[in-house]
Amino acid sequence: MILSIESSCDDSAISITEIATNKLLFHKKISQELEHSVYGGVVPELAARLHAEALPKILEQCEPYFKDLKAVAVTSTPGLAVTLVEGVTMAKAIAVALGIPIIGVNHLIGHIYSLFIEKETVFPLTVLLVSGGHTQVMQVKSLTEIETVAKSMDDSFGESFDKVAKMMGLGYPGGPVIQELADGGDRLKHNFTVPLHQSPLIAFSYSGLKNAVRLAVLDADGDTSKYKDIAASFEHIATKHLTMKLKKYFKTVKPSTFAIVGGASANIYLRGQIEELLKPHKADLLLSELQYCSDNAAMIGRVAIEMYKKEMFSSIEDLDIAPRSIL
Ligand code: KG4
Ligand code: ZN
Repeated sequence: MILSIESSCDDSAISITEIATNKLLFHKKISQELEHSVYGGVVPELAARLHAEALPKILEQCEPYFKDLKAVAVTSTPGLAVTLVEGVTMAKAIAVALGIPIIGVNHLIGHIYSLFIEKETVFPLTVLLVSGGHTQVMQVKSLTEIETVAKSMDDSFGESFDKVAKMMGLGYPGGPVIQELADGGDRLKHNFTVPLHQSPLIAFSYSGLKNAVRLAVLDADGDTSKYKDIAASFEHIATKHLTMKLKKYFKTVKPSTFAIVGGASANIYLRGQIEELLKPHKADLLLSELQYCSDNAAMIGRVAIEMYKKEMFSSIEDLDIAPRSIL
């Protein structure tokens, strides 16, 4: 069995996975959404303090598994430095106390493996990762053959939902509230420009759209009845940006199995639009279970099983956090 810890942002989570069967024997997550909501985004120092409270509480419940642990895994990159440290420090203490190897997991690879929790892996895959920290397209052949072919030049898809929600005073995280608000709105009411629509680059950008939405919100002058059309038009253009760039990419690289992962992959409008995009290519669409789209430790545990089998261990001295991912 492997104990895996996730603390890269605002979710404290620990899982226990069984190496031979991929089974998830234990998973507990404590989210900090409520605490950060008043600030309209994650406050790193507060997040770190809350991890320091939550992680030991969850770890206590894992005690019955301690004697069977073969390794401890932890998200070591990317994420907030002060929160990554919480998980890594705990993992090192466990590794030393139990005399077991430690595995440093890349959170983005974790999101990819959220597709395979309690399942066998399926490769090759074209993956769209849409989270609060990342918007990128990756070609994935295996655990160690991952190529990023497009990424955001500024804000991420999920982050843009968070910022729009903040402008409207709707708290954090913004994804679910904006999705709900958009559901009743007119998607064509505001003719926001699709980012980079004239650029040949296969890349993403959300800062311009965010500013266009800011002007529309200012223009509404506090009339909240106008927010649903703004939200709907925003969600439409934010998604159209992704589908337009993917369409361009598919002209040279045909998708056969396509996956959407990350917290924002829960977005229903996005899922529908990607399904439409894939139809002419007859490509399969893979999605994670809804409960594993957002940050969790089950996905870290699933990667850890593969890394354990390949003996991809770190030494206690060398395992360090890296706020930016190499992917
Ligand atoms: O993967 P995740 O839990 O954390 C990161 O690794 O960043 O993703 C969280 C992000 C937040 O920005 C949140 O607003 C967004 O995912 N999100 C959504 C939806 N649900 C969560 N964005 C759009 N639509 C949703 N339904
Ligand atoms: Zn994430």
